[in-house]
Amino acid sequence: MNPEERITELTNRLNQYNYQYYQNSVSVVDDFTFDQLLTELTSLETQYPQFRQPDSPTARVGGTISKEFKTVFHRFPMLSLGNTYSEEDLIEFDKRVQKGLNGQNYEYICELKFDGVALSLTYENGVLIQGATRGDGVRGDDITNNIRTIRTVPLRVGGTDVPPLFEVRGEGFLPLAEFERINKEREDIGDALLANPRNAASGTFKQQDSGAVAKRRLDCFLYSFLSDVDIFQTHEESLVAMNQWGFNVSQTWQKCADIRDVMHYINEWETKRFDLPLGTDGIVIKVNRYDQQRDLGFTAKSPRWAIAFKYKALAASTVLNGIQYQVGRTGAVTPVALLTPVLLAGTIVKRASLHNANEIERLGVMMHDTVFVEKGGEIIPKITSVDLSRRTDQSQSIIYPTTCPACGTPLVRKESEANFYCPNERGCPPQKQARFEHFIQRRAMNIESLGEGKIELLIDRGLVQTPADLYNLTASDLLGIEKIFIDEESGKKRVVSFREKTVENILTAIERSKAQSFPDVLFGLGIRYVGNTTAEKLAVYFGSMDAIMNAGQEELLAVPDTGPRIAESVIAWFADEDNRDFVERLRLAGLQFVSEKKVVEQEGDTLTGKTFLYTGTFANFSREELESRIEANGGRLLSGISKKLNYLIVGENAGPSKVEKARKLNVPMIGEDEFMAMLVV
Ligand code: IVH
Repeated sequence: MNPEERITELTNRLNQYNYQYYQNSVSVVDDFTFDQLLTELTSLETQYPQFRQPDSPTARVGGTISKEFKTVFHRFPMLSLGNTYSEEDLIEFDKRVQKGLNGQNYEYICELKFDGVALSLTYENGVLIQGATRGDGVRGDDITNNIRTIRTVPLRVGGTDVPPLFEVRGEGFLPLAEFERINKEREDIGDALLANPRNAASGTFKQQDSGAVAKRRLDCFLYSFLSDVDIFQTHEESLVAMNQWGFNVSQTWQKCADIRDVMHYINEWETKRFDLPLGTDGIVIKVNRYDQQRDLGFTAKSPRWAIAFKYKALAASTVLNGIQYQVGRTGAVTPVALLTPVLLAGTIVKRASLHNANEIERLGVMMHDTVFVEKGGEIIPKITSVDLSRRTDQSQSIIYPTTCPACGTPLVRKESEANFYCPNERGCPPQKQARFEHFIQRRAMNIESLGEGKIELLIDRGLVQTPADLYNLTASDLLGIEKIFIDEESGKKRVVSFREKTVENILTAIERSKAQSFPDVLFGLGIRYVGNTTAEKLAVYFGSMDAIMNAGQEELLAVPDTGPRIAESVIAWFADEDNRDFVERLRLAGLQFVSEKKVVEQEGDTLTGKTFLYTGTFANFSREELESRIEANGGRLLSGISKKLNYLIVGENAGPSKVEKARKLNVPMIGEDEFMAMLVV
């Protein structure tokens, strides 16, 4: 099979697997095989870019950087919907429809109103050619590359009934579970939390690095079909067809014979909507027949054939009995409200998030107050207000602690930060424990067999002080130790013990962790603001722990997406003697301190004998791609600027000191286009 045929075959096969997996939840092949085929396709596409298919699944992993999004005009304006909040309003709407249709029969389609970002996707000859935001309704941003990262958006649709040009519209969103996952990660590295799933989705869709977008698993529900040719008579037909063509159509829609049926739908979904994977804030009611939609037409802003019904936020009132102050890995103290259990939207709520000291002040809440809790787009409910009419003399002011609830150290508050911090990084027990948990997590050193109380036990027994001590543990240290934990909430006992098999598993996992890649090790160090992605970017840019340790501000700032906050944090972390000592002990233990060199398949020899270095970011290549293209064509990468350097490839946001040095040494500087021209014989 020649490369072109193989590329086509792999593209089709992988798209088919993706479709089965995301639409039908069927895994046709295991993850390993899938990844292998995808790697093969990626490498073939790098070698033969001319054969890359427009619906290549490699677009799912992103990689393109857009400096600015292109503005695109919508072929049909993207309007908004009128809102209603009551049954009476809905009856009014129904009367207007009835009158507008002069007594004809009509039906409605009810759908949930998904709380995300409106998107428009255009397909030409079955291929996704454009994805855009709503913008002002007339023109939006072209975010095609970001939309391609959404696994459930088909990159190509087939079938004889698919029109040559059409548009589908829907709501892009960040699934709640993904939102919680991202926030957990952000909390772990001490980053500010994302406010809510909607803002998080909107911010993600507008990121300029589609690789970063791919890391957040966005999703999209489609609910409108538009084309110049009339192929459907009703909205219902379009929903069924879109679903058949492979679009992700939420199966929550329902046909309703009249407005009473609509009311049933509204009541049914008032609490059921909380089981959905995304936030919803109401329902959308649409006249089913397209000819009737046309007859009813539009006002200046919205269609007369559709309306949104907004649910009132579901709230319950309960009593605030206490506040638990939790200390995280970075020392941030977060208050959690302890409530008298209350039923809210089908679940019992006992705890609510209070965020930080500012929030307590903003709410003006006192201990023993009756408060309202609401379920919004997030999983954890929040206190939204105080029922002042029920305040009694029992209520007491909340005195925010001035010392750490865990270790007694006076808390500090950094300028411009909402949280108080416990500065006792090394001695404070929850911080110490969380540092271990961070280190052993799957995405860092992957020693998760040490979870669930085992770390606590090792710390308790004085067997480990820092995660570096894990590498000195022996079987005789561990065998036979045990501790009984009592669960605070349920009062249940749990015994954690180190029997022979457990010890063997743990020691094997510790040994195996030495093979974790350099970016994983860097992430595991637990430097504030250095999450997985940042660790990867730093590792790719610098190549080794030593290079990062010795990097100055300017060099760090030259790393893509690295701002002063990260740069300062990295410098401060490595300036600390204890941290350096920790790093040296990890080095001695044999952890990976340099980036693996990838085996590069040869593409050509046009760069043979030439040396290169690059600075900045590029429109057509990620740094890794640039490096592999240099090597695949016979060139060699140098680590610094010297007289031996033949070319400095200069991209966007190039490091000024590198450019200056190259100028002084008369090293030729070339742009990305010139470099690409060198690849062609
Ligand atoms: S149909 C003419 N259906 O609500 C407008 N919109 O206020 C047709 N939305 O911009 C929109 N779920 O972002 C429609 N099932 C649904 C929806 C939905 C959420 C959003 C959409 C739109 C806004 C209108």
